[in-house]
Amino acid sequence: MNAIDLLKQDHKTVKTLLAELSETTSRAVKKRSELLRKIDLELSQHTAIEEEIFYPALRQVGEKEDEKMYFESREEHRTVDSLVLPDLKNTRPDSMEFAGRVKVLKELLEHHIQEEEKEMFPRAEQLLDHPTLDRLAVAMQQMKKDIKAQWEKRAA
Ligand SMILES: [Fe+2]
Ligand SMILES: [Fe+2]
Repeated sequence: MNAIDLLKQDHKTVKTLLAELSETTSRAVKKRSELLRKIDLELSQHTAIEEEIFYPALRQVGEKEDEKMYFESREEHRTVDSLVLPDLKNTRPDSMEFAGRVKVLKELLEHHIQEEEKEMFPRAEQLLDHPTLDRLAVAMQQMKKDIKAQWEKRAA
């Protein structure tokens, strides 16, 4: 699996979890918390591998337009990681606000994912060769494992 396949697979996982979460009702308190925890972990892993491995690799070979895309993407990550997601984690799963905040998170991420898949990834396929994409995937897999291990350690 190369770097782009890996990122796309992550996107699919997150989209599925968000769709599941948005279908829950305020009575499904436990389910909501469980799904939110999974989404939180997935996003922590995914944002980290993009910002620390994939984006820098693309940036190195990119041009001015790619640089704009890079900063826009980082800003979208920041909106999710420092505003929307922390807010949602602080919202009672049985409250009215919860569903509204899930909807905003879902829309933001779907927009972001679409831009990456329609603009950034095709560009990466143009600019990075196969051995590089494979090498990045190995590093990304490892980083995902490390982050998950940290999470589990913290939860224990
Ligand atoms: Fe992203
Ligand atoms: Fe992504």
